[in-house]
Amino acid sequence: MSPLARRGSTLTIILVVLVAVGAIALWIAVANGFSARTPPTAVERVVMQAVHWLSVPRAARTATNPVAFSPDVWAESRAHFADHCASCHANDGSGNTELGRGLFPRAPDMRLAQTQDKTDGELYWIIENGIRLTGMPAWGTGGGNDVDSWKLVHFVPLEGADARAAQGNGGPQPEIAG
Ligand code: HEC
Repeated sequence: MSPLARRGSTLTIILVVLVAVGAIALWIAVANGFSARTPPTAVERVVMQAVHWLSVPRAARTATNPVAFSPDVWAESRAHFADHCASCHANDGSGNTELGRGLFPRAPDMRLAQTQDKTDGELYWIIENGIRLTGMPAWGTGGGNDVDSWKLVHFVPLEGADARAAQGNGGPQPEIAG
């Protein structure tokens, strides 16, 4: 067999295997349907991480918060969070609400590194623009100067906010209802 023909038959075998795997996956999907109850698979988690990363424009990541942290700002953003965000994210950011648990992907536990490690610019951009193909809506106007969203950024990194509140320069200790 010529090298060209050998390569051709290898490609054919790969193609047949791919079609067979696709057909089996389709058969399983059609038989079982899709439920938002099923935890995301590893592949879905990786895809969502990529979506997060791709969502935020490079320049937006490094944007700094024009609103200074103060007890009043913190109290205001906490009330705002309770009104608009806690239905999915819960007051303590755990995502442990009926809505948050029922979404796919789930409302994340914001106390974990995935959220805590995001820059102010990333958090702001996500709040303003939402995350496509998820339950996270776009809030505000989508511009760079939405003061209410910048205030929320102070509240979202909950551990940071709690720590600053505990040090006495961040206002009252949070009474988180969960
Ligand atoms: C209807 C439900 C819902 C509401 C209301 C909601 N969110 Fe979300 N939010 C989500 C979901 C679901 C995700 C996760 C999406 C994903 O996995 O990509 C998310 C993700 C986020 C993230 C990214 C967290 C991370 O680690 O990736 C931030 C920040 C955020 N939301 C802030 C807010 C704020 C602030 C509000 C209120 C102004 C709010 N959300 C209101 C459902 C909601």
